[in-house]
Amino acid sequence: MAARHGGAFALVALCLLELALRGAGAGDGEPLVPAMFVFGDSTVDVGNNNFLPGCSADCRANYARYGVDYPSHAPTGRFSNGYNLADHIARFLGFAESPPAYGSLPPEGIIEQMRSGINFASGGSGLQDVTGKALCGQVHSMSDQLDMFASVVQMMGNCSSDLVSRSLVFISVGSNDLFEYVGGNATSCPNRNDTAFLQGLVAAYRSYLQELYAAGARKFSIVSPSLVGCCPSQRSAGWLKDDLDGYYCFGTANRLSRQLYRMLLSMLQDLSAGLAGMNFSICDSAAMADSVFNSTGSSSNAMNVVDTGCCGGAGILGPAKCDRSATLCPDRAAYLFWDGFHPTETASAVAALALFADSGRYVHPINITRLAAL
Ligand SMILES: *[C@@H]1O[C@H](CO)[C@@H](O)[C@H](O)[C@H]1NC(C)=O
Ligand SMILES: *[C@@H]1O[C@H](CO)[C@@H](O)[C@H](O)[C@H]1NC(C)=O
Ligand SMILES: *[C@@H]1O[C@H](CO)[C@@H](O)[C@H](O)[C@H]1NC(C)=O
Ligand SMILES: *[C@@H]1O[C@H](CO)[C@@H](O)[C@H](O)[C@H]1NC(C)=O
Ligand SMILES: *[C@@H]1O[C@H](CO)[C@@H](O)[C@H](O)[C@H]1NC(C)=O
Ligand SMILES: *[C@@H]1O[C@H](CO)[C@@H](O)[C@H](O)[C@H]1NC(C)=O
Repeated sequence: MAARHGGAFALVALCLLELALRGAGAGDGEPLVPAMFVFGDSTVDVGNNNFLPGCSADCRANYARYGVDYPSHAPTGRFSNGYNLADHIARFLGFAESPPAYGSLPPEGIIEQMRSGINFASGGSGLQDVTGKALCGQVHSMSDQLDMFASVVQMMGNCSSDLVSRSLVFISVGSNDLFEYVGGNATSCPNRNDTAFLQGLVAAYRSYLQELYAAGARKFSIVSPSLVGCCPSQRSAGWLKDDLDGYYCFGTANRLSRQLYRMLLSMLQDLSAGLAGMNFSICDSAAMADSVFNSTGSSSNAMNVVDTGCCGGAGILGPAKCDRSATLCPDRAAYLFWDGFHPTETASAVAALALFADSGRYVHPINITRLAAL
């Protein structure tokens, strides 16, 4: 299948990246928020799974060729060739470094690290406690991640309240729940009720946000799952199930992503109306992906391979492993996907830019720049 073109979007976005970085003054002076706390899955994990003894190799990224473009050129546990979404957002906010993995911190260093942020995210996890357990053996579920956060906040005592309320809570989760749902038996069941399934996810999300609010958090940046049916691994799944949409992606999976976004937005509007001082910014990643997959006829050479993973070449012909023996694409920046599931460093940068600086196209009701300034 021919690669579709996402070039125009990527190119415009990357030019804006420069402006955004200058505008935000990354590197010079104070970050825009005192700290950043990260929760979610492999889109934002910076190595927590390396510290989970029961977590299988399928849910770790601590081997080559992960990290090939990271500053150290070594695998770190990030599911990317280089930086991931959390890293880019941290840089845009003006932090010198992305908040470290909670698992990497010595117990005596945790409270000090809270002052600038900690990353609790765990690859393979989802909104449901059970998500990731079968595939990975052990992950930090969202409930676990929030428990860890709440216990540190409690240890800090009342010194934490001002810090946590001014800081950014950054959450990217939900894709794995969708992957497991569409990959499992549910979608072959004629009586399945997708809306009821999604309502369960949204109810879980709501309760996590309430817990974070109770721990003092006020500024929430939420990344909804992207068009998960367009991950290279899911294209072959959709093909096998004879369920392909106009992008040659797994149709049911993409429909669920779009529906979940609308439900999350409405939940957030409702929740924030009832919780004094809560503000949020949600990114419609499905709409953002739509614009990439649907951008017509750009012949620019920026990020124009959207159907195949750079590492190992997962795609319509099937999944492929990204490991030491995998072949690498020659031009990583031309690829939307790094492996069968995860975006490249470049694609994450484009998404991070939208989160940070978009004015109403994909990010609602405000972008992270405005959220941080409140
Ligand atoms: C923390 O608690 C102490 C003792 O209860 C109180 O004097 C102080 O004002 C509190 N500080 C903050 C920031 O709430
Ligand atoms: C799917 O159904 C089969 C047969 O009923 C069962 O053995 C298998 O465990 C199920 N898989 C999942 C993921 O639920
Ligand atoms: C699916 O579940 C929703 C919400 O639980 C319910 O309102 C709807 O009637 C159900 N649809 C069917 C076809 O059962
Ligand atoms: C691309 O966008 C157009 C206009 O919004 C829409 O009509 C079309 O269905 C989209 N293509 C696909 C494959 O979804
Ligand atoms: C922030 O949240 C408050 C209520 O919690 C709301 O009144 C206000 O409009 C929000 N600000 C923005 C910029 O969305
Ligand atoms: C953020 O959004 C506001 C309006 O919602 C817009 O004026 C601003 O340009 C956007 N970007 C940045 C970097 O602030």
